[in-house]
Amino acid sequence: MKTIFSGIQPSGTLTLGNYIGAMKQFVELQHDYHCYFCIVDQHAITMPQDRLALRKNIRSLAALYLAVGIDPNKSTLFIQSEVPAHAQAGWMLQCVSYIGELERMTQYKDKSKGKEAVSSGLLTYPPLMAADILLYKTDLVPVGEDQKQHLELTRDLAERFNRKYNDIFTIPEVRIPKVGARIMSLAEPNKKMSKSDENQKAFISLLDDPKQIEKKIKSAVTDSDGLVKFDKENKPGVSNLLSIYSILSHESIESIEAKYEGKGYGEFKAELAQVVVQALKPIQDKYHELMESEELDRILDNGAEKANKDALKMLKKMENAMGLGRKKR
Ligand code: AQP
Repeated sequence: MKTIFSGIQPSGTLTLGNYIGAMKQFVELQHDYHCYFCIVDQHAITMPQDRLALRKNIRSLAALYLAVGIDPNKSTLFIQSEVPAHAQAGWMLQCVSYIGELERMTQYKDKSKGKEAVSSGLLTYPPLMAADILLYKTDLVPVGEDQKQHLELTRDLAERFNRKYNDIFTIPEVRIPKVGARIMSLAEPNKKMSKSDENQKAFISLLDDPKQIEKKIKSAVTDSDGLVKFDKENKPGVSNLLSIYSILSHESIESIEAKYEGKGYGEFKAELAQVVVQALKPIQDKYHELMESEELDRILDNGAEKANKDALKMLKKMENAMGLGRKKR
């Protein structure tokens, strides 16, 4: 059976973008693949985080993974910082990365733009991400469009390591969903929806209540021509709303366009809000149940134990390949 690895940062409450671009596919894939799903808290600290909020977000993200349908009997769910091999392997991969290639990463450029003090962790994020993936002999990495460049770098680093030291890494493939790979901000539809956006109206969180969802969709930026039509280039706001509607309702874009022909954005937005509320309700119910149970910690303990065991095998191979320590490990 082939192996999948994917991670999500506990840098805020997950958005519809994270759900549609990443999590939704995880649930489908877990039946056919050996899956590792990781809460990448060490990636989250590449940007400033409040200590208490981070702790809360880690637990909350774990509960959300399970609430959307990740089955801990099928998949390994764990927290990155509870498996030290990630940081250790990340360091080794930093030593095979070039500063120039890291500086070319779009995420680094976007997140460091206009900032006076940028953490070096933001620059070295991709080798840590490569470590996450390569430690588990991953074949496939399901991510949203925004992570494609990091995945290409992971492949380059793995190939470089294999050539330079020893041929130990599996070269992973990227898997990007055909629809919904890039859900856009509700406030600035040319920018992707992000959980750490300072503008609360820009994203729908998976834990927003019906009133918040209605309000946010009502205020979503569209255009002035009043046509519910998919046209990414000229109507990015409406097209984004149509994509969300289509994915969550399982209706085709064409049939939604036909349904709202001659009707204004008001009716379309009101019904889209109901589609979102209905899609999130079972997830939210399960989430609240899990947050109050002890099951969550038990699942995370088991996940960390399994991941530590598996990751350590590859870490030893990496250390041996590079000649670290006094003797073969
Ligand atoms: N807008 C999006 N549309 C589709 N997929 C998305 N993903 C993120 N945003 C969208 C996918 O979600 C997974 C987890 O992402 P992450 O939390 O590791 O980091 P990110 O890509 O940086 O996500 P955010 O929400 O933008 O986080 P912040 O605001 O903290 O930077 C990935 O598979 C990603 O592709």
